[in-house]
Amino acid sequence: MKKLEQLYEGKAKKVFRTENPAYLIVAYKDDATAFNGEKKGTIQGKGAINNRMTNLLMQMLEQQGIPTHFVKELSDRETVVKAVTIVPLEVIVRNISAGHFAQNYGVAEGIVFDQPTIEFSYKNDALGDPLINSYHARALKLATQEEIDTIVSLSFRINQALQAFFQKVGIILVDFKLEFGRLADGTIVLADEISPDTCRFWDQATGEKLDKDRFRRDLGHVEEAYEEVMRRLTGAQG
Ligand code: TMP
Repeated sequence: MKKLEQLYEGKAKKVFRTENPAYLIVAYKDDATAFNGEKKGTIQGKGAINNRMTNLLMQMLEQQGIPTHFVKELSDRETVVKAVTIVPLEVIVRNISAGHFAQNYGVAEGIVFDQPTIEFSYKNDALGDPLINSYHARALKLATQEEIDTIVSLSFRINQALQAFFQKVGIILVDFKLEFGRLADGTIVLADEISPDTCRFWDQATGEKLDKDRFRRDLGHVEEAYEEVMRRLTGAQG
């Protein structure tokens, strides 16, 4: 499969057309941004780690019956994915209070919830990805109720699968962000990435942050944290 012209460049990835309209190629960059692009930097080697980690996790999810856009890893940083129209919602699942949840609702980080929460942001950089509910999503015609129901149900199943998977390698899955797309026939599939850019990972033993919060909060050892998560996942593959 060959890369043809670039269709889109996002903050962390580029997307290319291929000779087959049903497939795209994504290329992961080392660029990192936070706070809606206000903070910019580079995390050396991140593109390769996020590419491989996303692909490993998506294949694991596929085995558990979760449809994803994953097709084939091409190289270090490049993967063939199914062409989808992205549903412009950032779907955030939380198991433990952190980040904006702690900030918005005035609670400490680290409170373990009795059951996971789910929320949506309207994926729109100009508006700063505002938090919306499912009524807003329908009013804005971002998705139908049926699609939202599918997205919620898949997101909680993904949470269960990921939590169990990360627990085995001593990592607590605090929260994460998902994006979904529609295939040509309307089927909803998991898209985008699952990586330390889009998840909060805490070391089970030490509580140490092993994700992009190290970059957002200038905690240092950013690269090492990404490498550590990848090392544990590949170890788990045996
Ligand atoms: P938050 O606490 O800042 O809302 O973040 C919740 C989760 O979503 C966290 O794991 C990081 C991830 N996330 C993204 O992937 N992209 C974003 O733009 C933001 C704000 C968060």
